[in-house]
Amino acid sequence: MNIIFIGDIVGSIGRDMIFDYVPRLRQKYEADLIIANGENAAAGRGITKRIYDDLLHAGVDVVTMGNHTWDNRDIYDFIDDAEFLVRPANFSEEAPGQGYTVVEKKGKEIAVINLHGRTFLPPHDDPFKKVDEILNEIDTPLVIVDLHAEATSEKIAMGWHLDGRASFVVGTHTHVQTADERILPGGTAYLTDAGMTGPYDEILGMKKEDVLYRFKTNLPTRFEVPKQGRAQLNGAFIQIDDETGKATHIERIRINEDQPFQFQK
Ligand SMILES: [Fe+2]
Ligand SMILES: [Fe+2]
Repeated sequence: MNIIFIGDIVGSIGRDMIFDYVPRLRQKYEADLIIANGENAAAGRGITKRIYDDLLHAGVDVVTMGNHTWDNRDIYDFIDDAEFLVRPANFSEEAPGQGYTVVEKKGKEIAVINLHGRTFLPPHDDPFKKVDEILNEIDTPLVIVDLHAEATSEKIAMGWHLDGRASFVVGTHTHVQTADERILPGGTAYLTDAGMTGPYDEILGMKKEDVLYRFKTNLPTRFEVPKQGRAQLNGAFIQIDDETGKATHIERIRINEDQPFQFQK
């Protein structure tokens, strides 16, 4: 099974990268499943029904979320019907939506789970306990986990917690891709952060002038996502054994003007 994971889509520049590159990535990697984090897809804050539909139409199979899940109120109107949208599973029991979904590709079931970290982030339920509960509920060894978290240590801890029990543990949220991709001894592919998909010349996708102003003055500043400028797409490609769910290969995907897309592997 060939799987691509794409990091946080930020604003219209990020969405345009999805429309441009998802078909090409699917072809290049012969991808069976493409997952993308969409927590910043609507102008940096949350997601709308229209954007969710557009992402699926572009070829994304499952959209994961994060701390920005509820930022665009549109989500309350469609999340309970969105079969291929997952928000962090360790949100409150009262939260609408689902924390994981099971999709079928090549006749196999694959679970996609979204979790939220607790270090330097709001105190949600225990993601370690929550993922154990989910693994008891599902009946497939093909498991992809997006841990949306700030701290590298928490993400690495989750990698080891799930080694041998998940096919891929990938981090999102920092918007900066890490270069620590590996396959853990139990067969779990691991990457601390996939990086982001959106503006290339700004600060984590937000206009750099706004962010710099806040750093220099400590005054309240509203961050905006630019609509024009150079773009980037970041993520990872993994191959897993269809029977065991163990990973056999992982490589990072990084597309920008300095590292242009190449069709040949
Ligand atoms: Fe994000
Ligand atoms: Fe986030």
